[in-house]
Amino acid sequence: MKIEGRGILITGASSGIGLSLSTLLARKGAILVLTSRKIERLKEVANEIGSAFPHIPTPLATPCDVANRESVCRLIKSCVNHLGGIDILINNAGISVYGDTEKTPLKEFHSVMEVNFFGALHCMLEVIPLMKRQGKGLIVNIATVAAKHGVPYMGAYCASKAALVAVSQSLRAELSKSGISIMIVYPGYTKTNIFKNEKKVGGAHRPPGPYATASKVAEAIVRAIEGEKRDLVLSPGGKALTLFQGLLPWLVEKAMERIASELRDKEEVSNG
Ligand SMILES: NC(=O)c1ccc[n+]([C@@H]2O[C@H](COP(=O)([O-])OP(=O)(O)OC[C@H]3O[C@@H](n4cnc5c(N)ncnc54)[C@H](OP(=O)(O)O)[C@@H]3O)[C@@H](O)[C@H]2O)c1
Repeated sequence: MKIEGRGILITGASSGIGLSLSTLLARKGAILVLTSRKIERLKEVANEIGSAFPHIPTPLATPCDVANRESVCRLIKSCVNHLGGIDILINNAGISVYGDTEKTPLKEFHSVMEVNFFGALHCMLEVIPLMKRQGKGLIVNIATVAAKHGVPYMGAYCASKAALVAVSQSLRAELSKSGISIMIVYPGYTKTNIFKNEKKVGGAHRPPGPYATASKVAEAIVRAIEGEKRDLVLSPGGKALTLFQGLLPWLVEKAMERIASELRDKEEVSNG
């Protein structure tokens, strides 16, 4: 698929992977609508992109809380006014919560589900009828390697992203004759603000690395869009997990147990 001239809506465009994706897609000539909750930062991003790439219209920066269906409704309306239609929707907005799953307050499970699962679902429910009328469209859902298998201390996050993968796969089959494609992306650890902003429940710490850069992840996603891939698994750990999950599931379980004990905070070990 050629990116040039495509109308693309990117959620979570103000930071990290979404910011890198926006810059890269602008360089390739896409016409962009960028969204996130904090409009000031989003406007800065849109203006920076507009100055760096004068060959495309300055992206439209429009605020939206994807967890709120009405907010998404307004977003899609302004998107259609600006672009005339939507060729590609990139569901990238996301938040995280980290620490002991059993100590994670239920309200944190709800918050992470509201953004990572319902946020993407709200956007899809608004965009699919439009894409059906267009007879074509691509939806790119940014999941995570941790949606392939539950990872220690990420219970709420894994659950939200596994739910996103499941609904994406259901829709992919149901929409197979509609001209709408759904790509699922499974990034591994990537150096972004998500870790600074995440709710920390305690009991464990994040691994020291390795972390990919957001620009490398964005490059791989753009290549996958151009190559019309259906699934994109990133990071050596993610690729190994995908391979061994089917072949040697016990090995994956052992690896998860090892990760759980490596990342457990010391005082938690001594307290039992
Ligand atoms: N970093 C990683 O290691 C990693 C690995 C696998 C998958 N991912 C996924 O990649 C995606 C991007 O994450 P990132 O690492 O680039 O994080 P990030 O730098 O924290 O960016 C998250 C973006 O989402 C927006 N956002 C958060 N809540 C929102 C809401 N309710 N409505 C609209 N926008 C919202 C944020 O802007 P506002 O705060 O202004 O709303 C921001 O633009 C997420 O879906 C994440 O789960 C990340």
